[in-house]
Amino acid sequence: MIQQEIVLNKPDDMHLHLRDGDMLSAVAEHSARDFARAIIMPNLVPPVTTVQDALSYRQRIFAALGGDTSFEPMMTLYLTASTTRYDLEKAAASDMVKAVKLYPAGATTNSDSGVRDIQKSYRLFETMAELGLPLLVHGEVTDKEIDIFDREAIFIDSVLDPIRRAIPELRIVMEHVTTKNGVDYVASADSNLYATLTTHHLMLNRNAMLVGGLRPHYYCLPILKREEHRQALRAAATSGDARFFLGTDSAPHLSDAKESACGCAGVFSAANSLGCLATVFEEEKALVNLNAFTSINGANFYGLDINDVKIRLIRTSEPAIFPEHIGVGTETVTVFDPGMPIYWHVDHSITL
Ligand code: DOR
Ligand code: ZN
Repeated sequence: MIQQEIVLNKPDDMHLHLRDGDMLSAVAEHSARDFARAIIMPNLVPPVTTVQDALSYRQRIFAALGGDTSFEPMMTLYLTASTTRYDLEKAAASDMVKAVKLYPAGATTNSDSGVRDIQKSYRLFETMAELGLPLLVHGEVTDKEIDIFDREAIFIDSVLDPIRRAIPELRIVMEHVTTKNGVDYVASADSNLYATLTTHHLMLNRNAMLVGGLRPHYYCLPILKREEHRQALRAAATSGDARFFLGTDSAPHLSDAKESACGCAGVFSAANSLGCLATVFEEEKALVNLNAFTSINGANFYGLDINDVKIRLIRTSEPAIFPEHIGVGTETVTVFDPGMPIYWHVDHSITL
């Protein structure tokens, strides 16, 4: 018999871009509807580099939600060449700031302030290990001569593994892991290494983006990989292994900025991630592990209580209808279209 409903502790999105200004106002409610908490990425312009920046950004998020405080934004700092021990101590002492994000300079959207010489950050990594402050990594090298599809695998060998060997006490999350190499590396670690996985990398391989026409709304970083990698990600996500948890990497850009000769990287999936994920877990015959992936493993990593509030997903005989776009002023953001019918959606008509 096909399972028709599943009840989850209200999920946490452990990797989310909410942006600022009009975009923030337009997208925030879509995360707050389906998620209890989210780890908020700091790649604004200028980036969120101090606790003070993070707290004022947090206030802007609450304002965008009309003062609704039931959704908790958990803030992060952007590691730069100017980050100091003092910044890290302040972050560790703040309940509102949960982690520090490492972007190799040039790796992705708004990463110009990122780290250029990783060796210079080792002292800060030691301090973070001492303070128990997790390091979230965008795990891609940015050398021009390295093929974009190899950036993650090379990052593991040339950047991540040396950091872990030098500072084994540092708690690290490989954000949006996209390769079998990444999954295997995390699975082989004894301790202090975790990974988030996105909705879109679980649903799509690179053919979806490149075959039969170029689909800019599937362009993201790290870029979609070949099918064998997607299969490895699905196995990890659906396994129940406590080291893997959801970070949607929902990253809105205006539709015009994506449908362009030089389109921006990012997929806006906050509005329909949970229905998509239920589909993935159903296909993998692992619905029983969906709650661990969306609602337990990430909370445990960050030392948080599991959310008491519950949500219900239901499976309908007709595909769920998600909006194609959401409005941002006179412009739009295109909602993630997984390219297949999705029969699951969150039932917002009841509170459990
Ligand atoms: O696709 C992406 N978009 N990947 C990232 O790492 C950043 C994000 C963004 O901020 O647009
Ligand atoms: Zn991201």
